Amino acid sequence: MIRLGVLISGRGSNLGAILKAIGNDRLKARVVTVASDRPAAGLTTAKQDGIPSTWFNRKQLGQEEFEELLVAHLQDFEVDFVVLAGFMRLLSSKFLAEFPDRVVNIHPSLLPAFPGVDAQKQALEYGVKVSGCTVHFVDEGMDTGPIIAQAAVPVHPDDDEESLKTRILKAEHLLYPHALNLLATGKVSRLGRIVHVEER
Ligand code: GRF
Repeated sequence: MIRLGVLISGRGSNLGAILKAIGNDRLKARVVTVASDRPAAGLTTAKQDGIPSTWFNRKQLGQEEFEELLVAHLQDFEVDFVVLAGFMRLLSSKFLAEFPDRVVNIHPSLLPAFPGVDAQKQALEYGVKVSGCTVHFVDEGMDTGPIIAQAAVPVHPDDDEESLKTRILKAEHLLYPHALNLLATGKVSRLGRIVHVEER
């Protein structure tokens, strides 16, 4: 069973969806630790499920020391994949080199459209009629890594940021466990930027 280390910065609803999918056997994996860069609300979700969780004070430590502690922590727990679920920090190439092809993220838009913060607001302001979410491998850029899976979500004429966020989040909660299960069951391979998924 593959071992996931989940990194969060906020409420952790994607973490909750991952744990639920594991509980329902839709995701064949284990969350072995949850870590954060701040005292995130989602750490409580982890604790309630009896998962070792911790946070390292990124503000006080600075990027380099923070990442060193995080790498050591994730290695202590022998994680196979590092799963970013609302983790709001860019990771350095030094960090990524410790987990090659093993760091994944979910982003609330159909990348490469609308990377970075406020993706749903960007989508509304641009006037797209379809947006969605993307699970991708993480590289040094901002939401630029090879794409593993995407789900499209309609944008309605009367949407505001909140309603669009809610609709996309619902899709995220299905897509992330699905994509992680593809990784967990060895159905994902990568050649350059192109990710091949064996869906059977
Ligand atoms: C999600 O919209 C995710 O796509 C983005 O940050 C948000 C995190 O939400 N990267 P949650 O903490 O999982 O509820």
